[in-house]
Amino acid sequence: MSVVVEPPAFASFEALERAALACVRCPLATQGRTQVVFGTGDPHADLMFVGEGPGQQEDVQGVPFVGRAGQLLTRLIEGIGLARSDVYIANVVKCRPPGNRDPLPVEIESCRPFLEGQLAFVDPKVVVTLGNFATKLLLETKDGITKLRGREFPFRDRAVLVPTLHPSAVLRNGGAALANARADFVRVKRALERSRAAR
Ligand code: URA
Repeated sequence: MSVVVEPPAFASFEALERAALACVRCPLATQGRTQVVFGTGDPHADLMFVGEGPGQQEDVQGVPFVGRAGQLLTRLIEGIGLARSDVYIANVVKCRPPGNRDPLPVEIESCRPFLEGQLAFVDPKVVVTLGNFATKLLLETKDGITKLRGREFPFRDRAVLVPTLHPSAVLRNGGAALANARADFVRVKRALERSRAAR
């Protein structure tokens, strides 16, 4: 299904971040968040990662993917010759769900304008969705990540989307899951190279 990309409702990336940091649109604002975890990295990056939502460490530090899963994500990024500062990293929801539960549909929808704004301003050539929530949201599908990973998808006529396993799932499952994640990152590297060659 094709998606209409709304132009960002924010005048600048800074205005978008300010609005997100002050957000009280959904119950996560009052359910124990320490702070809003907006995003990190290069806002002009060719490569953007979208995770699920902040965990405990991210909630404390205000930066996505800094806990154990984040350390694995960093290693996977470095494994394709990049640094975290070369990419942009965000989440579907910007506030920690209590006890790290799954984000609820109302929370995902409330937070969506911020993710859409990030996608519009960063305008990456390659989007990597980490796990089920980001993949289902951005590909508008009910199919799960194990079915979807291992391929790339056109994304809104301007980028390629590579779905991969969430690093937490890789940590839980190890072995084959890590091999699959590494293979997906090779796909990401090739997609980036192709997008640069086409310029
Ligand atoms: N898991 C996520 O999906 N995002 C984070 O920022 C940390 C862990």
